[in-house]
Amino acid sequence: MWIQTHADEVEKGKVLFQAKACFTCHQVDQKIPSPAGLALNAPKFVGKFWGTEREVNVGIGGPVKKVKLDEAYFMESVEKPMDKIVKGSIPGMAPLPTTLEERKALAAYVKSLSR
Ligand code: HEC
Repeated sequence: MWIQTHADEVEKGKVLFQAKACFTCHQVDQKIPSPAGLALNAPKFVGKFWGTEREVNVGIGGPVKKVKLDEAYFMESVEKPMDKIVKGSIPGMAPLPTTLEERKALAAYVKSLSR
């Protein structure tokens, strides 16, 4: 039952990742670049990335902090992209309106891509 539900959530997130234009900036397939993300240096969701540490600026040009890509940080990044900005990236991620349900599904999908 749980497996069924989880698979549904991942599938829903996959659809949202397209519908909300995330794919235009975040590459999820080694072979298919995401042109809009290149200039901004948007993080790729390829390889092993879930649970790994990255450095972020807390606020644009703010103090540097280490964070782990987990569900909480993922959801915050989608809801409030300007709160923590990945070091070395341009703060160019649009605050795309999503519901909590949608953010959960997006997190489940993106997590499922990490190898
Ligand atoms: C216009 C390009 C663009 C779009 C569209 C976009 N992003 Fe981003 N995203 C970025 C950039 C650039 C960063 C790095 C700067 C920052 O942290 O804000 C980022 C950062 C992130 C991070 C933090 C990643 C990390 O490795 O620390 C997550 C999670 C994320 N985006 C998810 C999403 C999701 C989900 C969507 C769709 C709802 C989306 N993004 C749409 C450009 C984009």
